[in-house]
Amino acid sequence: MAAPEWSQPPAVVGGGESPDDVEQLELELLLEAVYRRYGYDFRQYAPASLRRRLRRRQDAEDVATLSQLQDRLLHDPACMERLLLDLSISVTAMFRDPSFYLAFRSIVAPALRTYPFTRLWCAGCSTGEEVYSLAILLQEEGVYERTRIYATDINEQVLDAARAGVFPLDKMKQYTQNYIRAGGTREFSSYYVAAYEGARFSRSLIDNVVFAQHNLAMDRSFNEFNVIVCRNVLIYFDKALQDHVHGLFYESLEHLGVLALGHKESVAFTAHADRYEPLDAVERIYRKVR
Ligand SMILES: C[S@@+](CC[C@H](N)C(=O)[O-])C[C@H]1O[C@@H](n2cnc3c(N)ncnc32)[C@H](O)[C@@H]1O
Repeated sequence: MAAPEWSQPPAVVGGGESPDDVEQLELELLLEAVYRRYGYDFRQYAPASLRRRLRRRQDAEDVATLSQLQDRLLHDPACMERLLLDLSISVTAMFRDPSFYLAFRSIVAPALRTYPFTRLWCAGCSTGEEVYSLAILLQEEGVYERTRIYATDINEQVLDAARAGVFPLDKMKQYTQNYIRAGGTREFSSYYVAAYEGARFSRSLIDNVVFAQHNLAMDRSFNEFNVIVCRNVLIYFDKALQDHVHGLFYESLEHLGVLALGHKESVAFTAHADRYEPLDAVERIYRKVR
């Protein structure tokens, strides 16, 4: 019987490896350990930014090598939580890239009006600014009442923040400008009250929102959607994982459903490119046509 692959001897034995080779090996072992211990699969994240973030965590934990970091990760779940925050950078903003929302308002909202009920999946929603922005837009366009938004992220901590809906007061000036540039039709300040802890957004904005943990790399499709919004997430994945997630989106969208990626991402050069037609080529909003 052939020996299992893991028991094969390495091609080079005995010190022929460069420090870079050893670090690459440590990186692979650490990612494998994280996957097997916690189920988080970062094995297909884009390597350059992964290395940068791991190095930062290594410094913050004051450990000399990735192997030492791996040891700590395996035995200390709190360290894993800290790494998770590093790896899944959660930078976001309300009405981020206002031109995206302008396009969404003029192209997608009218289409949604023709449906009695719609399901929208906001994947990689981070601390929720994108979800509240979409809810405001859909409310102003008169379709929020018949929409359910499924807002998901790999990271429970950011989801807790999203559920709370309290954002820094000092961001409100910038968010108001974004909102106006995104075609907002009311007073932005009518959506929140200024409280001690920050700008507390109206709970009515999340009446139709379901927040849930979902890992795009590992979890399956969980519904059929009319719209999927996923912005500034796929950039962290390598090509194979991007393809995998595009497969997930494709099978989760109903026929003529809308995939909204924002200008940093695209379906071009993926295995699914010819299954969509562009509705807005700049904002990368597509319709599934086959
Ligand atoms: C830069 S934020 C983008 C937030 C928001 N979509 C936006 O554009 O403002 C990226 C988010 O993707 C999430 N993320 C990273 N890997 C993920 C995965 N495998 N599954 C689900 N979410 C993931 C991170 O936790 C983070 O909150």
